[in-house]
Amino acid sequence: MKNVLCGLLASFLLVTANAQEKKTVRVTTDQTDLVLQVNPKGRLYQVYLGDRLLHEQDADLLPWNQYAGSDGSISTRGYEAYAASGGEDYFEPAVAITHADGNQTTYLYYKSHRQQAVPGGTETIIELADDKYPVEVTLHYVAYPQENVIKAWSEIRHSEKKPIHLWRYSSTMLYFNAASYYLTNYHSDWACEGKPVVQQLQFGKKVVDTKLGSRAAMQSEPFFELGFDGPARENEGRVMLGTIGWTGNFRFTFDVDNTGALRVIPGINPYASYYELKPGTTFTTPEFVFTLSNEGVGQASRNLQAWALRHQLKDGMGDRMTLLNNWENTGFYFNQQSLAQLMKDARDLGVDMFLLDDGWFANKYPRANDRAGLGDWEATKDKLPEGVPGLVKAAKEAGVKFGIWVEPEMVNPKSELFEKHPDWAITLPQRETYYYRNQLVLDLSNPKVQDYVYGVIDGLMTENPDIAYFKWDCNSPITNIHSHYLEDRQGNLYIDHVRGLYNVLSRIRQKYPSLPMMLCSGGGARLDYEALKYFTEFWCSDNTDPYERLYIQWSMSKFFPAKAMASHVTNWNGRASIKFRMDVCSMCKLGFDINLKSMPENDYKFLQQALRNYHQLKPVILDGCQYRLISPYETNHMALNYVAQDLSKAVLFAYDLHPRYKEPLPHVRLQGLDANAQYRVEEINLRPGEESRPAHHGKTYSGDYLMKVGLQVLSANEGQSHVFVMSRV
Ligand code: DGJ
Repeated sequence: MKNVLCGLLASFLLVTANAQEKKTVRVTTDQTDLVLQVNPKGRLYQVYLGDRLLHEQDADLLPWNQYAGSDGSISTRGYEAYAASGGEDYFEPAVAITHADGNQTTYLYYKSHRQQAVPGGTETIIELADDKYPVEVTLHYVAYPQENVIKAWSEIRHSEKKPIHLWRYSSTMLYFNAASYYLTNYHSDWACEGKPVVQQLQFGKKVVDTKLGSRAAMQSEPFFELGFDGPARENEGRVMLGTIGWTGNFRFTFDVDNTGALRVIPGINPYASYYELKPGTTFTTPEFVFTLSNEGVGQASRNLQAWALRHQLKDGMGDRMTLLNNWENTGFYFNQQSLAQLMKDARDLGVDMFLLDDGWFANKYPRANDRAGLGDWEATKDKLPEGVPGLVKAAKEAGVKFGIWVEPEMVNPKSELFEKHPDWAITLPQRETYYYRNQLVLDLSNPKVQDYVYGVIDGLMTENPDIAYFKWDCNSPITNIHSHYLEDRQGNLYIDHVRGLYNVLSRIRQKYPSLPMMLCSGGGARLDYEALKYFTEFWCSDNTDPYERLYIQWSMSKFFPAKAMASHVTNWNGRASIKFRMDVCSMCKLGFDINLKSMPENDYKFLQQALRNYHQLKPVILDGCQYRLISPYETNHMALNYVAQDLSKAVLFAYDLHPRYKEPLPHVRLQGLDANAQYRVEEINLRPGEESRPAHHGKTYSGDYLMKVGLQVLSANEGQSHVFVMSRV
């Protein structure tokens, strides 16, 4: 006790000593400043978040107390950087703790800060501590100057005698001051991911969250836009884009207070998660990533996309393979011969890889449908007598790489795994179990289960070092929330489960650092920047109808680069031309999931040619800058262009969805080109016998012309699409 008291006294003295001088902490990108300041009582406040301040000394003029009264007294109301529960701020706190003695208040005082270079940016680390309890909080901010992105997270730790309980643990807390705020958040469901909803935020709280545990983003996406002084627009206006890196229950709270200030509080959802934190351990929150832009959402998206490629996405600067997948084509019905044939089909088409989907595993309860087999990861002998090695060999003979589907976090009750380890599944002891897609979620808070899940990948890789790719699926939310491992710490389950997943993924990455993996979750229910540290791409949706896909891709492109977004040509909406389907997928990380043999010869030839085009244009599409030009949400068309980093090439994609009779057709004005350069325009991805658009094909225009006058590429014909390449001459 004596030691604890001495420690407390020492840190309090440090706090008061530090509070004597005016302490200003700047988190700075090339465009943005987040300025924090210690008030006379030693507490830390946000005093500014906005355009970068040109003059260093101006930061010291900022008032820490936005509510300063006329009596001159030191009020502690203001925008506290990481407001804690029980204090003078009566709005939603960033952190809330029940101490070991039952006290629910925490006051955090500034202790010290430091800044250090990290890859791509500068990290600011601020130490805060309570003056009465041995509780410390560390705030982390990494500023990426060039991309104008900041990511923020926090750590909470303590040395109280007994565990404390956390009931709020936000990643950060940000304050904005504007005349009005408009939130765009995205709701979702299977096959209709990424649907935007726009609303004005007014006094009170708006909460966007998920409670699904795993498959967590099935109903609500972990990203949002904020428009200041008006709804967020594509090319004008002040906006913020934010997203949280957490593959589980997240929560965004938008709280407009009595003064009209908006607090943005992103974090793990505290729902059913009264978290027990043992003395000497640290609770680390997820990273919240945000960017500000004065030129609308388009620029903000380019900030996030560039940042992701350079600093966050697994192998963001690397290449991506094209592939042929078999799920939409064969479902569960295949065998060794039919797969060997599909591998040859993949080679003939010209893709890099064949990807085997669900249905290849389990013997006692073979995976002939989704009711059995999950958990038993050996190849089904009847279907695949030579096992996975036989498939790897067949792929080698065909001359393509081989990738394989797994869903290792799940178990069907009809499986040997469940028979052996029923306690590894998340199930309630005294209630009837309910199932989602006939399966249960394995309890990743249990280290033994983590070993098992790691072993699924490691086992396959050890037996088959030539496996070149994994598609990692997750088709169920957590049902029957109860861990047989955590005993009386059930409040930790939702959180420790996700951390268990990250343990597994980081072990996989240590052993297989360059193995590409696709993140999939019953379509697109997992898409966050923590998972994407481990995954090279994600599956946006099982909905591959090209019309629908245009909307889904439009939404997701706001937050993710094209390279991270897998898009496959399938037979969903076979009424759409193969060209339209191919063009839609060519804007992302391209694949196919279609029966190539049953397709008309001209369609097949078209795909081969368009695939060759894609392979050539990958550096522009996947590594260039993206400009969304015409929104499918606002018009009956869609257009966007990519520009190579050196501005030497651009690709324009334009689509006519369901145009109205005689509707006006605006020119499509490109963006991001070199205004003073000349570009030769060529239409590609034409079907055999199809004429290019004579108005533009083969002509040369200045970048200025293409950006100011634009091209007449939209038409009144439903389901048409055009792809143009602009090459600097
Ligand atoms: C859901 C995925 O989104 C699909 O692509 C497919 O892999 C199925 N699961 C397989 O069960």
